Amino acid sequence: MNGVLGYGMTVPSLEVADGFFRSFGLTPQEGPRTLGFGCEGAEQEQVTLVEARHKKVAHISFGVDEGRLVEFGTRLEAHGVKLHDAPKPLEGPGLWFRDPDGLWVNLREGRPDPGVPMPESDMNVGSSRPRIDRAAWQHVPSRTRPHRLGHVLLYVSDLAAAERFYGEVLGFRLSDRTGRILSFWHARPGDHHVFGFVQSTHPGLHHSSWEVPSLDALMIGKQHMDEQGHPGWGLGRHGLGSNLFTYVPDPWGSWIEYFIDIDQISDAWEPRDLECPAAMWAPRMPQSFVVNTESTEGMEL
Ligand SMILES: [Fe+2]
Repeated sequence: MNGVLGYGMTVPSLEVADGFFRSFGLTPQEGPRTLGFGCEGAEQEQVTLVEARHKKVAHISFGVDEGRLVEFGTRLEAHGVKLHDAPKPLEGPGLWFRDPDGLWVNLREGRPDPGVPMPESDMNVGSSRPRIDRAAWQHVPSRTRPHRLGHVLLYVSDLAAAERFYGEVLGFRLSDRTGRILSFWHARPGDHHVFGFVQSTHPGLHHSSWEVPSLDALMIGKQHMDEQGHPGWGLGRHGLGSNLFTYVPDPWGSWIEYFIDIDQISDAWEPRDLECPAAMWAPRMPQSFVVNTESTEGMEL
């Protein structure tokens, strides 16, 4: 398992979605019946939008190593998971099946798009003084363009069932967990989490999270979204994962995050189950941050 390639949502208006994701800094990649977005220069479509009555998470797509799809297919069928064709109008290669909450899951060969190379950090903080004779204010970006899709967090109706499915069947590895409320998962050494679950009454998208090149980019993105009428939550530093964040509410009640400085973990990482605040410091969390607004009706795909 190589991590998250992208995800899909149904939305009541592709026009509204188009404006929102453009403002967030993603690049449109239009398909015939869907609207796609990705990071500038990304080869993969990282968000796929389909017009439907309700906003609802529609699918999630993971990458596996070349030549391993047959093995995953066999493993899924051994666990009683039925394989399907891609649900219309989604399309794409690989295996398609549903998770315990009915969400479409797609496994395809590939790795998450690494994004265009980012500059080395040149912040004069701590004992590091890399920026000499270079005025930082003259290099602040005017707009924020996320560099890579970092992680996706889902609301699930049964955390234990989701953990069994994505851990035991698909091979994600637990990073950390907070009781029976929240768990974070990784696929390989790298980001502390690329995927995670929040216990809820029903499935939904909690947030997707996008890495940006610098603290300036993080705050320029927040400022731009504030000015566009989407004030959110942040700046703050998370507990589990430790990333610096700013969150923007999307027009349908989920969230989308700019992040930098997430913990990196290796094969030696030992998962823990511990109480940890959502943020070590931040403005007060909006109550809506933990409200699952997605429809409880069945999936429309
Ligand atoms: Fe996040």
